[in-house]
Amino acid sequence: MKAFEVLDNFGIENLSSVTRPDPKPGPGEVLVKIKACSLNYRDFLMITGQYNPRQKLPLVPLSDGAGEVVELGPGVKKVRIGDRVCGIFSQGWLAGAPRLENIRETLGGPLDGMISEYRVFPEEGVISFPEHLSYAEASTLPCAGLTAYNAVVTFGELEPGMTVVALGTGGVSLFALQFAKMLGCKTIVTSSSDQKLEKAKSLGADEGINYTAKTNWDREIRKKTDMKGADLIIEVGGAGTLSKSVQSVKPGGIVALIGVVAGGGEANLSLFPILMQGIRIQGVIVGSRSDFERMNLAISRNLMRPVIDRIFPYSEFPKALEYLRDGKHFGKVVIEI
Ligand SMILES: NC(=O)c1ccc[n+]([C@@H]2O[C@H](COP(=O)([O-])OP(=O)(O)OC[C@H]3O[C@@H](n4cnc5c(N)ncnc54)[C@H](OP(=O)(O)O)[C@@H]3O)[C@@H](O)[C@H]2O)c1
Repeated sequence: MKAFEVLDNFGIENLSSVTRPDPKPGPGEVLVKIKACSLNYRDFLMITGQYNPRQKLPLVPLSDGAGEVVELGPGVKKVRIGDRVCGIFSQGWLAGAPRLENIRETLGGPLDGMISEYRVFPEEGVISFPEHLSYAEASTLPCAGLTAYNAVVTFGELEPGMTVVALGTGGVSLFALQFAKMLGCKTIVTSSSDQKLEKAKSLGADEGINYTAKTNWDREIRKKTDMKGADLIIEVGGAGTLSKSVQSVKPGGIVALIGVVAGGGEANLSLFPILMQGIRIQGVIVGSRSDFERMNLAISRNLMRPVIDRIFPYSEFPKALEYLRDGKHFGKVVIEI
Protein backbone atom coordinates (compact mmCIF):
# COMPACT_ATOMS: atom_id res chain seq x y z
CA MET A 1 0.00 0.00 0.00
CA LYS A 2 1.03 3.59 -0.36
CA ALA A 3 1.47 5.95 2.57
CA PHE A 4 3.02 9.33 3.20
CA GLU A 5 5.92 9.38 5.67
CA VAL A 6 7.98 12.08 7.29
CA LEU A 7 11.19 10.28 6.39
CA ASP A 8 14.37 10.91 8.37
CA ASN A 9 14.08 14.66 9.04
CA PHE A 10 11.23 16.97 9.96
CA GLY A 11 9.83 19.39 7.39
CA ILE A 12 7.18 19.46 4.67
CA GLU A 13 10.00 18.99 2.15
CA ASN A 14 10.85 15.64 3.77
CA LEU A 15 7.40 14.16 3.19
CA SER A 16 7.44 11.31 0.74
CA SER A 17 4.87 8.84 -0.59
CA VAL A 18 6.33 5.37 0.05
CA THR A 19 5.22 1.77 -0.40
CA ARG A 20 4.65 -0.18 2.81
CA PRO A 21 3.59 -3.83 3.20
CA ASP A 22 -0.21 -4.29 3.25
CA PRO A 23 -1.20 -4.56 6.93
CA LYS A 24 -3.22 -7.54 8.27
CA PRO A 25 -5.51 -7.32 11.29
CA GLY A 26 -4.53 -9.50 14.26
CA PRO A 27 -6.82 -10.75 17.06
CA GLY A 28 -9.24 -8.02 18.15
CA GLU A 29 -8.17 -5.75 15.30
CA VAL A 30 -9.86 -4.35 12.19
CA LEU A 31 -8.48 -3.29 8.81
CA VAL A 32 -9.77 0.05 7.50
CA LYS A 33 -9.49 1.27 3.91
CA ILE A 34 -8.89 4.97 4.44
CA LYS A 35 -11.01 7.21 2.20
CA ALA A 36 -10.28 10.70 3.51
CA CYS A 37 -8.06 12.50 6.01
CA SER A 38 -8.25 16.04 7.31
CA LEU A 39 -5.50 18.40 8.38
CA ASN A 40 -5.09 19.97 11.78
CA TYR A 41 -2.66 22.69 12.77
CA ARG A 42 -1.19 20.07 15.12
CA ASP A 43 -0.23 17.97 12.08
CA PHE A 44 1.70 20.89 10.64
CA LEU A 45 3.51 21.34 14.00
CA MET A 46 4.22 17.58 14.17
CA ILE A 47 5.58 17.37 10.62
CA THR A 48 7.84 20.38 11.12
CA GLY A 49 9.20 19.06 14.44
CA GLN A 50 7.70 21.84 16.55
CA TYR A 51 5.15 19.65 18.36
CA ASN A 52 7.57 17.00 19.60
CA PRO A 53 11.18 17.34 18.45
CA ARG A 54 11.84 13.83 19.88
CA GLN A 55 9.15 12.15 17.77
CA LYS A 56 10.61 8.97 16.23
CA LEU A 57 10.81 8.93 12.43
CA PRO A 58 9.66 7.74 9.96
CA LEU A 59 6.11 8.74 10.88
CA VAL A 60 2.87 8.46 8.92
CA PRO A 61 1.28 11.81 9.79
CA LEU A 62 -2.30 13.04 10.33
CA SER A 63 -4.48 12.25 13.32
CA ASP A 64 -7.84 12.54 11.58
CA GLY A 65 -9.36 10.28 8.97
CA ALA A 66 -12.30 8.12 8.00
CA GLY A 67 -12.71 4.93 6.01
CA GLU A 68 -14.49 1.62 5.53
CA VAL A 69 -13.84 -1.54 7.52
CA VAL A 70 -12.74 -4.19 4.99
CA GLU A 71 -11.41 -7.06 7.15
CA LEU A 72 -11.81 -8.30 10.72
CA GLY A 73 -9.23 -10.11 12.83
CA PRO A 74 -10.25 -13.07 15.00
CA GLY A 75 -12.49 -12.27 17.98
CA VAL A 76 -13.76 -8.87 16.81
CA LYS A 77 -17.25 -8.39 18.28
CA LYS A 78 -18.46 -4.81 17.89
CA VAL A 79 -17.32 -3.83 14.40
CA ARG A 80 -18.60 -5.25 11.10
CA ILE A 81 -17.22 -5.34 7.57
CA GLY A 82 -18.61 -2.33 5.69
CA ASP A 83 -18.86 -0.10 8.78
CA ARG A 84 -17.99 3.53 7.99
CA VAL A 85 -15.67 4.64 10.77
CA CYS A 86 -13.29 7.29 12.05
CA GLY A 87 -10.09 6.53 13.92
CA ILE A 88 -10.13 7.77 17.52
CA PHE A 89 -7.56 10.48 18.23
CA SER A 90 -6.31 8.99 21.56
CA GLN A 91 -6.48 5.29 20.79
CA GLY A 92 -6.57 4.08 24.39
CA TRP A 93 -8.78 6.80 25.92
CA LEU A 94 -12.19 5.20 26.06
CA ALA A 95 -13.96 7.21 28.77
CA GLY A 96 -13.53 9.39 31.82
CA ALA A 97 -10.88 11.98 32.63
CA PRO A 98 -7.63 12.08 30.64
CA ARG A 99 -4.82 9.92 32.05
CA LEU A 100 -1.19 10.22 31.04
CA GLU A 101 -0.96 6.71 29.64
CA ASN A 102 -3.86 7.16 27.23
CA ILE A 103 -3.55 10.77 26.12
CA ARG A 104 -0.08 9.93 24.82
CA GLU A 105 -1.30 7.18 22.47
CA THR A 106 -2.39 9.57 19.74
CA LEU A 107 -2.61 9.08 15.98
CA GLY A 108 -0.29 11.08 13.72
CA GLY A 109 2.41 11.09 16.43
CA PRO A 110 3.61 9.25 18.39
CA LEU A 111 1.53 6.52 16.67
CA ASP A 112 1.43 6.32 12.88
CA GLY A 113 -1.49 8.34 11.55
CA MET A 114 -4.03 8.20 8.78
CA ILE A 115 -2.51 9.20 5.46
CA SER A 116 -2.15 5.69 4.04
CA GLU A 117 -4.35 3.42 1.95
CA TYR A 118 -5.02 1.04 4.84
CA ARG A 119 -4.56 1.09 8.59
CA VAL A 120 -5.10 -1.53 11.29
CA PHE A 121 -6.79 -0.48 14.56
CA PRO A 122 -7.87 -2.26 17.72
CA GLU A 123 -11.66 -2.54 17.43
CA GLU A 124 -12.14 0.04 20.20
CA GLY A 125 -9.91 2.42 18.24
CA VAL A 126 -12.56 3.10 15.58
CA ILE A 127 -16.05 4.55 15.88
CA SER A 128 -18.96 4.70 13.41
CA PHE A 129 -19.82 8.20 12.29
CA PRO A 130 -23.21 9.86 11.60
CA GLU A 131 -24.96 8.42 8.54
CA HIS A 132 -25.62 11.73 6.79
CA LEU A 133 -21.89 12.54 6.56
CA SER A 134 -19.54 11.74 3.67
CA TYR A 135 -16.09 10.25 4.35
CA ALA A 136 -14.57 13.69 3.74
CA GLU A 137 -16.90 15.31 6.28
CA ALA A 138 -16.40 12.55 8.83
CA SER A 139 -12.62 12.83 8.52
CA THR A 140 -12.82 16.22 10.26
CA LEU A 141 -14.40 14.92 13.48
CA PRO A 142 -11.74 13.10 15.55
CA CYS A 143 -9.58 16.04 16.68
CA ALA A 144 -11.08 19.37 15.56
CA GLY A 145 -14.73 18.36 15.96
CA LEU A 146 -14.33 16.62 19.30
CA THR A 147 -12.15 19.37 20.80
CA ALA A 148 -14.75 21.98 19.90
CA TYR A 149 -17.58 19.76 21.17
CA ASN A 150 -15.93 19.32 24.56
CA ALA A 151 -14.97 23.00 24.84
CA VAL A 152 -18.52 24.15 24.09
CA VAL A 153 -20.82 21.39 25.29
CA THR A 154 -18.89 19.54 28.01
CA PHE A 155 -16.99 22.40 29.65
CA GLY A 156 -18.89 25.48 28.43
CA GLU A 157 -21.68 25.44 31.07
CA LEU A 158 -23.81 27.23 28.49
CA GLU A 159 -27.48 28.07 28.35
CA PRO A 160 -29.45 29.46 25.42
CA GLY A 161 -28.79 33.16 24.98
CA MET A 162 -25.27 33.07 26.46
CA THR A 163 -22.38 34.41 24.36
CA VAL A 164 -19.58 32.32 22.87
CA VAL A 165 -16.55 33.88 21.15
CA ALA A 166 -14.56 31.80 18.65
CA LEU A 167 -11.12 33.13 17.76
CA GLY A 168 -10.36 32.78 14.05
CA THR A 169 -12.13 30.75 11.40
CA GLY A 170 -10.05 27.56 11.46
CA GLY A 171 -11.29 24.03 11.97
CA VAL A 172 -11.82 24.05 15.74
CA SER A 173 -13.37 27.52 15.82
CA LEU A 174 -16.00 26.85 13.13
CA PHE A 175 -17.02 23.61 14.82
CA ALA A 176 -17.31 25.60 18.07
CA LEU A 177 -19.51 28.14 16.28
CA GLN A 178 -21.78 25.35 15.02
CA PHE A 179 -22.06 23.65 18.43
CA ALA A 180 -22.72 27.00 20.14
CA LYS A 181 -25.54 27.73 17.66
CA MET A 182 -26.94 24.27 18.35
CA LEU A 183 -27.22 25.26 22.03
CA GLY A 184 -28.99 28.52 21.15
CA CYS A 185 -26.08 30.78 22.07
CA LYS A 186 -25.12 34.15 20.64
CA THR A 187 -21.85 33.84 18.75
CA ILE A 188 -19.04 36.26 17.99
CA VAL A 189 -16.27 35.25 15.58
CA THR A 190 -12.94 37.02 15.09
CA SER A 191 -10.87 36.80 11.92
CA SER A 192 -8.06 38.49 10.03
CA SER A 193 -10.33 38.63 6.97
CA ASP A 194 -13.61 40.49 6.38
CA GLN A 195 -14.50 37.96 3.70
CA LYS A 196 -14.14 35.10 6.19
CA LEU A 197 -16.26 37.05 8.69
CA GLU A 198 -19.02 37.31 6.09
CA LYS A 199 -18.82 33.56 5.52
CA ALA A 200 -18.98 32.98 9.29
CA LYS A 201 -22.15 35.10 9.42
CA SER A 202 -23.69 32.97 6.70
CA LEU A 203 -23.01 29.98 9.00
CA GLY A 204 -24.93 31.70 11.77
CA ALA A 205 -22.37 33.90 13.56
CA ASP A 206 -24.19 36.89 15.07
CA GLU A 207 -21.21 39.24 15.13
CA GLY A 208 -17.77 39.45 13.54
CA ILE A 209 -14.63 41.33 14.57
CA ASN A 210 -11.59 41.76 12.34
CA TYR A 211 -8.73 41.28 14.82
CA THR A 212 -6.10 42.84 12.54
CA ALA A 213 -8.16 45.99 11.88
CA LYS A 214 -9.34 46.17 15.51
CA THR A 215 -6.31 45.17 17.53
CA ASN A 216 -8.24 45.92 20.75
CA TRP A 217 -10.70 43.18 19.89
CA ASP A 218 -11.22 42.44 23.58
CA ARG A 219 -12.80 45.91 23.92
CA GLU A 220 -15.00 45.17 20.89
CA ILE A 221 -16.20 41.97 22.53
CA ARG A 222 -17.07 43.82 25.73
CA LYS A 223 -18.96 46.43 23.68
CA LYS A 224 -20.91 43.70 21.90
CA THR A 225 -21.86 42.14 25.25
CA ASP A 226 -23.14 45.31 26.96
CA MET A 227 -19.73 45.63 28.67
CA LYS A 228 -20.43 42.37 30.57
CA GLY A 229 -17.97 40.10 28.74
CA ALA A 230 -18.62 36.80 26.95
CA ASP A 231 -19.54 33.58 28.74
CA LEU A 232 -17.07 31.35 26.89
CA ILE A 233 -14.00 32.07 24.73
CA ILE A 234 -12.69 29.44 22.33
CA GLU A 235 -9.02 30.34 22.78
CA VAL A 236 -6.94 28.88 19.93
CA GLY A 237 -4.32 31.65 19.77
CA GLY A 238 -2.34 30.80 22.90
CA ALA A 239 0.36 33.14 24.19
CA GLY A 240 -0.43 35.79 21.58
CA THR A 241 -4.14 36.13 22.49
CA LEU A 242 -4.68 34.72 26.01
CA SER A 243 -4.38 38.02 27.84
CA LYS A 244 -7.03 39.63 25.63
CA SER A 245 -9.25 36.56 25.93
CA VAL A 246 -9.14 36.94 29.71
CA GLN A 247 -10.15 40.60 29.25
CA SER A 248 -13.04 39.51 27.01
CA VAL A 249 -14.74 37.05 29.33
CA LYS A 250 -17.29 37.89 32.04
CA PRO A 251 -16.55 37.44 35.75
CA GLY A 252 -16.97 33.71 36.42
CA GLY A 253 -16.73 32.97 32.67
CA ILE A 254 -14.63 30.32 30.99
CA VAL A 255 -11.64 30.59 28.64
CA ALA A 256 -11.30 27.20 26.89
CA LEU A 257 -7.57 27.05 26.25
CA ILE A 258 -7.07 24.95 23.15
CA GLY A 259 -4.30 26.11 20.84
CA VAL A 260 -1.23 28.11 20.03
CA VAL A 261 -1.69 29.53 16.52
CA ALA A 262 -0.62 32.98 17.76
CA GLY A 263 2.30 31.69 19.84
CA GLY A 264 3.09 28.84 22.19
CA GLY A 265 5.28 28.76 25.25
CA GLU A 266 4.96 31.40 27.93
CA ALA A 267 2.15 33.94 27.95
CA ASN A 268 2.63 37.45 29.32
CA LEU A 269 -0.49 37.54 31.43
CA SER A 270 -1.76 39.48 34.44
CA LEU A 271 -3.19 36.99 36.92
CA PHE A 272 -5.32 39.55 38.76
CA PRO A 273 -8.41 39.51 36.51
CA ILE A 274 -8.41 35.70 36.71
CA LEU A 275 -8.43 35.51 40.47
CA MET A 276 -10.30 38.75 41.24
CA GLN A 277 -13.12 37.81 38.85
CA GLY A 278 -13.17 34.05 39.30
CA ILE A 279 -12.38 33.39 35.66
CA ARG A 280 -11.78 29.77 34.76
CA ILE A 281 -9.03 28.80 32.33
CA GLN A 282 -10.06 25.35 31.12
CA GLY A 283 -7.46 23.36 29.20
CA VAL A 284 -9.01 21.08 26.57
CA ILE A 285 -7.32 17.98 25.21
CA VAL A 286 -9.55 16.60 22.45
CA GLY A 287 -11.71 13.94 24.15
CA SER A 288 -12.41 10.27 24.78
CA ARG A 289 -14.28 7.65 22.78
CA SER A 290 -17.39 8.18 24.92
CA ASP A 291 -17.22 11.95 24.27
CA PHE A 292 -17.07 11.08 20.54
CA GLU A 293 -20.23 8.95 20.90
CA ARG A 294 -22.08 11.86 22.52
CA MET A 295 -20.85 14.25 19.82
CA ASN A 296 -22.05 11.88 17.08
CA LEU A 297 -25.52 11.87 18.62
CA ALA A 298 -25.62 15.68 18.65
CA ILE A 299 -24.38 15.87 15.04
CA SER A 300 -26.90 13.24 13.86
CA ARG A 301 -29.89 14.79 15.62
CA ASN A 302 -29.07 18.24 14.24
CA LEU A 303 -27.93 16.98 10.81
CA MET A 304 -24.88 19.18 11.32
CA ARG A 305 -22.28 19.20 8.51
CA PRO A 306 -18.63 20.10 9.08
CA VAL A 307 -17.34 23.07 7.07
CA ILE A 308 -14.86 21.91 4.41
CA ASP A 309 -12.85 24.63 2.71
CA ARG A 310 -11.08 22.53 0.11
CA ILE A 311 -10.37 18.91 -0.82
CA PHE A 312 -6.93 17.99 -2.20
CA PRO A 313 -6.00 14.68 -3.86
CA TYR A 314 -3.57 12.36 -2.05
CA SER A 315 -0.62 13.36 -4.27
CA GLU A 316 -1.00 17.02 -3.25
CA PHE A 317 -0.68 16.42 0.49
CA PRO A 318 2.43 18.66 0.87
CA LYS A 319 0.66 21.44 -1.04
CA ALA A 320 -2.37 21.09 1.22
CA LEU A 321 -0.16 21.49 4.30
CA GLU A 322 1.32 24.68 2.87
CA TYR A 323 -2.20 25.93 2.23
CA LEU A 324 -3.06 25.29 5.90
CA ARG A 325 0.22 26.83 7.11
CA ASP A 326 -0.51 30.01 5.12
CA GLY A 327 -3.92 30.38 6.82
CA LYS A 328 -5.86 30.55 3.56
CA HIS A 329 -8.54 28.16 4.73
CA PHE A 330 -11.98 28.66 6.25
CA GLY A 331 -12.81 25.53 8.23
CA LYS A 332 -11.26 22.22 7.25
CA VAL A 333 -8.76 21.11 4.62
CA VAL A 334 -9.28 17.52 3.50
CA ILE A 335 -7.25 14.96 1.53
CA GLU A 336 -9.10 12.27 -0.41
CA ILE A 337 -7.31 8.95 -0.85
N1 LIG B 1 -5.97 21.12 22.79
C1 LIG B 1 -6.45 20.34 21.85
O1 LIG B 1 -6.94 19.26 22.13
C2 LIG B 1 -6.44 20.81 20.44
C3 LIG B 1 -7.21 20.18 19.46
C4 LIG B 1 -7.25 20.71 18.17
C5 LIG B 1 -6.50 21.82 17.87
N2 LIG B 1 -5.71 22.37 18.82
C6 LIG B 1 -4.95 23.56 18.55
O2 LIG B 1 -5.87 24.62 18.31
C7 LIG B 1 -5.31 25.54 17.39
C8 LIG B 1 -6.27 25.71 16.22
O3 LIG B 1 -6.32 24.50 15.52
P1 LIG B 1 -7.07 24.39 14.15
O4 LIG B 1 -6.82 23.01 13.65
O5 LIG B 1 -8.46 24.89 14.27
O6 LIG B 1 -6.21 25.42 13.27
P2 LIG B 1 -6.48 26.02 11.85
O7 LIG B 1 -7.61 25.33 11.19
O8 LIG B 1 -5.18 26.11 11.18
O9 LIG B 1 -7.01 27.49 12.19
C9 LIG B 1 -6.20 28.48 12.70
C10 LIG B 1 -6.94 29.80 12.59
O10 LIG B 1 -6.54 30.61 13.66
C11 LIG B 1 -6.76 31.94 13.32
N3 LIG B 1 -5.68 32.76 13.87
C12 LIG B 1 -4.39 32.82 13.53
N4 LIG B 1 -3.75 33.75 14.24
C13 LIG B 1 -4.69 34.31 15.04
C14 LIG B 1 -4.67 35.34 16.00
N5 LIG B 1 -3.55 36.03 16.26
N6 LIG B 1 -5.82 35.64 16.64
C15 LIG B 1 -6.96 34.98 16.38
N7 LIG B 1 -7.04 33.97 15.49
C16 LIG B 1 -5.92 33.67 14.83
C17 LIG B 1 -6.83 32.04 11.80
O11 LIG B 1 -8.16 32.49 11.48
P3 LIG B 1 -8.40 33.64 10.38
O12 LIG B 1 -7.80 33.11 9.11
O13 LIG B 1 -9.88 33.76 10.33
O14 LIG B 1 -7.73 34.89 10.86
C18 LIG B 1 -6.61 30.58 11.36
O15 LIG B 1 -7.42 30.21 10.28
C19 LIG B 1 -3.94 24.98 17.02
O16 LIG B 1 -2.95 25.57 17.84
C20 LIG B 1 -4.05 23.52 17.33
O17 LIG B 1 -2.81 22.93 17.61
C21 LIG B 1 -5.65 21.87 20.09
